[in-house]
Amino acid sequence: MLWPRFSSLLALVLIFNSVHAAPSQSGDARLIQFKDASGDLQTEWVPQAALNYLAGSRGSVDRTADIVADMSSAALDAITSVNRGPGFLDVTEFQNTVTEKRALKKRAYATPNPSNYPFLQDTYFNQVSADGLYDIVDVLSNNFTTRGYHSSVARAPALWIQQQFEGIVGSANVTLVENSFNQPNVIAKIPGTNSSEIVILAAHLDSTSGDPGSENRAPGADDDASGISILFQTAQILVANGYQGSRTIEFHAYAGEEGGLLGSQTVARQYASDGAEVVAMLQMDMVAYQPSDKPVLTVLTDTDAALVAWTQDLVTAYLSEDTLHTSTCGYACSDHYSWEDNGYPAVSIDESGPYDSSLNPYYHTMQDTIDHLDFDKAVEFVKMGLAFVVEQAA
Ligand code: BES
Ligand code: ZN
Repeated sequence: MLWPRFSSLLALVLIFNSVHAAPSQSGDARLIQFKDASGDLQTEWVPQAALNYLAGSRGSVDRTADIVADMSSAALDAITSVNRGPGFLDVTEFQNTVTEKRALKKRAYATPNPSNYPFLQDTYFNQVSADGLYDIVDVLSNNFTTRGYHSSVARAPALWIQQQFEGIVGSANVTLVENSFNQPNVIAKIPGTNSSEIVILAAHLDSTSGDPGSENRAPGADDDASGISILFQTAQILVANGYQGSRTIEFHAYAGEEGGLLGSQTVARQYASDGAEVVAMLQMDMVAYQPSDKPVLTVLTDTDAALVAWTQDLVTAYLSEDTLHTSTCGYACSDHYSWEDNGYPAVSIDESGPYDSSLNPYYHTMQDTIDHLDFDKAVEFVKMGLAFVVEQAA
């Protein structure tokens, strides 16, 4: 029985070799990961210049252009099939570990039950404030020209977020996790009373209006300053009421999401290699563009089935007046994928999926501004953040 083991080892070595020996690896190239037409994961080295060209030509890509001549048609298909984002994961920093993933540790979740946590609906939900959310999105989208992770000012919004979190949970409970670029991830926590297990509520702190390396205006009010505002207010309300779970609650603000989930990959891989026990991760990415009469909470159903079903139950149990919608991304559209990819159950609740007709038409443009958003409806996402972490961390 030695052979099968040996052959899988050999296969692993061959995969590593093929990654390292790729012809276009030299120079300024990035290793991208994407899904092909059959849904299989592929990796490919692509010149940075080709990626810049593709990012700047959304909707009108010339597939015969010299700059993309060395790219496979599968990679071009993947990149051009998505709405406005890059359509791939940048795994350049992780090329030695792309094949060594922790298997998904599935969990069973007890049905959400508001009567077990009456303080949520009786007290906490009444403390949610639309004005408070507005003020946070105002600073993030207007006081910083861009939050682009490769811009010269990439670090400033992360430091502002760090400072805000320090004011909420205390500086001993806030850490920066550095990346290979000059924008760190920010992690804030409310320690649990008797468990090393972790529940995560997350959003991304960077923005883009096409090229995350440019100094151009990129307000990213909806994408994803809105998500960051939900993290702050959820944390604030928990702390104001002296809430502590038995599990630790962590708030993650990720850098470089728009470059291919860069910051969240760094964090999730670190947690996996440290053997951290994350029981559930919830990403909120674009929550405040709400053009319909009732607030719409969209659960993206691509990830762990048990957590996805539980999250839908959570919306129905706690926010019965709102519209529960489900949708799919079909690709690694936000940071929850980094967790799922590293073996942790993760889910996302957003205003819509990327292919829904209610998609914010301004996202990834200079018009993704605060005046297009509805904070009276965004408050429902704070309630979801509160219910999610309290139910999971109890
Ligand atoms: N916020 C978007 C993802 C999204 C779009 C969610 C529309 C819900 C509705 C995110 O910031 C993004 O742009 N993701 C990229 C992929 C990522 C790997 C850079 C995308 O969607 O192409
Ligand atoms: Zn986003």
